Amino acid sequence: MAKWKIAVIGCGFFSNVQYLPNITKEADAECVAAVDIIEERAIEACEKYNIENHYKNVYELIENCDFDIAIDAASIQAHHEINMAILKAGKHLISQKPAAPSVEMLTEQIELAKKMNVKFVCVPIHPMRYDINIAKNIMSKGAIGNAYYARCNMSHGGPEYFQYRDADPSWFFEPGAGALVDMGVHGLQIVTSIFGPAKKINCMAKVTTPERTVRSGAYDGKGLKTDKIPDQYVITLDFGDGKMALVDTGFSQKASKAPSLEIFGDKGTISFTEPYMENPIPDVYIDIPEQDVRGWMKPMTGAEVPEKMISQCCCLKDIIRAIENDTEPVLNAEHARHILEIMCKIPEILETEKPAVLETTF
Ligand SMILES: NC(=O)c1ccc[n+]([C@@H]2O[C@H](COP(=O)([O-])OP(=O)(O)OC[C@H]3O[C@@H](n4cnc5c(N)ncnc54)[C@H](O)[C@@H]3O)[C@@H](O)[C@H]2O)c1
Repeated sequence: MAKWKIAVIGCGFFSNVQYLPNITKEADAECVAAVDIIEERAIEACEKYNIENHYKNVYELIENCDFDIAIDAASIQAHHEINMAILKAGKHLISQKPAAPSVEMLTEQIELAKKMNVKFVCVPIHPMRYDINIAKNIMSKGAIGNAYYARCNMSHGGPEYFQYRDADPSWFFEPGAGALVDMGVHGLQIVTSIFGPAKKINCMAKVTTPERTVRSGAYDGKGLKTDKIPDQYVITLDFGDGKMALVDTGFSQKASKAPSLEIFGDKGTISFTEPYMENPIPDVYIDIPEQDVRGWMKPMTGAEVPEKMISQCCCLKDIIRAIENDTEPVLNAEHARHILEIMCKIPEILETEKPAVLETTF
């Protein structure tokens, strides 16, 4: 018997590629329940991954199943209700992003987790990345001098284009979802992992593609109306202290050869060009004027070697460590709330064409 019993809520694309196949690889854990409002999906997951129980919703799960940690990987619009139910039941929670539609609702979740004395992890997982932690280690030792600017590109061609899925992707383009909360959240988590909380933000956004056609999977060929929410965003962040970032994000870049991330300092640059799940070492450019040396290198890891990632289910390792050691998880909910504040203020910026000042921190 594994030590930790996991329930997965939402048996769609992401659960099938990242959570369900990797739970046993990431921790001394097993999946004891699969939950989906489309029951066949939960049943299919049980058959495929040898899971004992399936349920139609979170309430049936709570009432009938003995589990320790829930992973909420349902559609974005369902997260708040699911998360509140799990926390109220006194269970530890990993929430897919964004955990709530507003800062106030996420604060409600954070306070409930504290009251129930359970751990609460919010993904994405970028602060656990090998390449980002190598970069942070060498930056902390001054490798690129004063790091003042990060440029991050987190885009793809859209969930109907980029990912093979058996579930209907229409919900990605409906209010409450959209490219900002689905993709922008990654870029915002990355740049705030590097420079910390932002103080001020600005943004431009457009609907580039008002109609789309599903390109693979069970809904191949289905036409989608995708004109309700922008699908391409250019976000600028001011961290104070001379530091800033640009996040270029959306569902409108079918392909790109741009590095997903570059960090610039007065003595050099760190460039991320390889898929991060392969645990690459980023390219580093260093300028040493006193020795008349400048150039690109692949640095060796220093004395501190970050942990490599196996899968995006690494969030399970994070929450289990937090439970076992009674510490804060790396993927903490206060960081998620800061990112959520940024995302919630963007519609207001688009309307007023004025930058917004941020109130939350982490
Ligand atoms: N790299 C990443 O971090 C990444 C990538 C893709 C998706 N995601 C996130 O994962 C989550 C799911 O996305 P997906 O691509 O798997 O979508 P999906 O549509 O393939 O799957 C979502 C599943 O949730 C189920 N569901 C909806 N409401 C529910 C409810 N109330 N209770 C139980 N089940 C419910 C749906 O029936 C569906 O099977 C989203 O939050 C999305 O943003 C993250």
